[in-house]
Amino acid sequence: MATLIDGKKVSSVIREGIKKRVRLYRKMFKGSVPNLTVIIVGNNPASQTYVRNKAKAFAECGMRSSIIAMPEDISQTELINKISELNGDPDVNGILVQLPLPPQIEERDVLYSISPEKDVDCFHPVNVGKLVNGSHDFLPCTPAGIMELLRYYGIDPAGKRCTVVGRSNIVGKPVSLLMLEKNATVTICHSRTVNISEMTGSADILIAAVGRAGFIKADMIKEGAVVIDVGINRGQDGKLTGDVAFAEVAEKASAITPVPGGVGPMTITMLLMNTIRAALIQHRHSGRVQRRKGASYTISG
Ligand code: GUN
Repeated sequence: MATLIDGKKVSSVIREGIKKRVRLYRKMFKGSVPNLTVIIVGNNPASQTYVRNKAKAFAECGMRSSIIAMPEDISQTELINKISELNGDPDVNGILVQLPLPPQIEERDVLYSISPEKDVDCFHPVNVGKLVNGSHDFLPCTPAGIMELLRYYGIDPAGKRCTVVGRSNIVGKPVSLLMLEKNATVTICHSRTVNISEMTGSADILIAAVGRAGFIKADMIKEGAVVIDVGINRGQDGKLTGDVAFAEVAEKASAITPVPGGVGPMTITMLLMNTIRAALIQHRHSGRVQRRKGASYTISG
């Protein structure tokens, strides 16, 4: 039976560290704490749940967040005007526009209007470019969470074959880049891939991000593979299931993430980290923080 990769546990360990960083931040910056603004458009129930969970996590870690709810029929111009206002507000460190957006709005135009310094999702092309060339300030939250899980469980991607199933901008593409940065040999599969089982079956590390419940079956994986399930599929009964047929794959894998309780909790944890990082980047302009080598920032006093 595979080792269970426990995202809840890893998340709570990291969040304890985040609370300490927030206390230090508060001391350094006269009682202020990193602050995120989330914009939600319309009444998508899943989005509303995600946004509420984010607000709860921020409060628990001693950080500030606020939610701006906009009506379903808002125009793209109104939404972008609101983002411009937040870009110019020094009290706002991070801006997140919850996806999906209604059809009258071009998602790309909206995401590109967020200042790269406040882009805690890491969706702006400046940040995506930095991710590609390895000079990133932010990492996209879900891919960063996956890398943290691997690190916590001592799974080194170097020299391993990694297959990513799914090529989304949010997960598939960026996690492939991060695995490559950690020296894995990466294959990306998608809806037009011929013979997916051949690709998944040779993977030492398999990352499933297709959005199809139970898509990865035991006969598609290699004995002893590490299986990371990014799927969040809600069934008719309201229950969440992943992209991996958990019970049968767990018999064959060496380690596996459950759904829920695997990758999911890590996404918000990485958002907390990115918001602290964004705040420090913004303070760097005042000369009160120094940049360490690599992607992190430290408070210098
Ligand atoms: N909707 C589903 N996942 C995400 C995410 O990672 N970021 C944003 N902004 N919206 C989402």
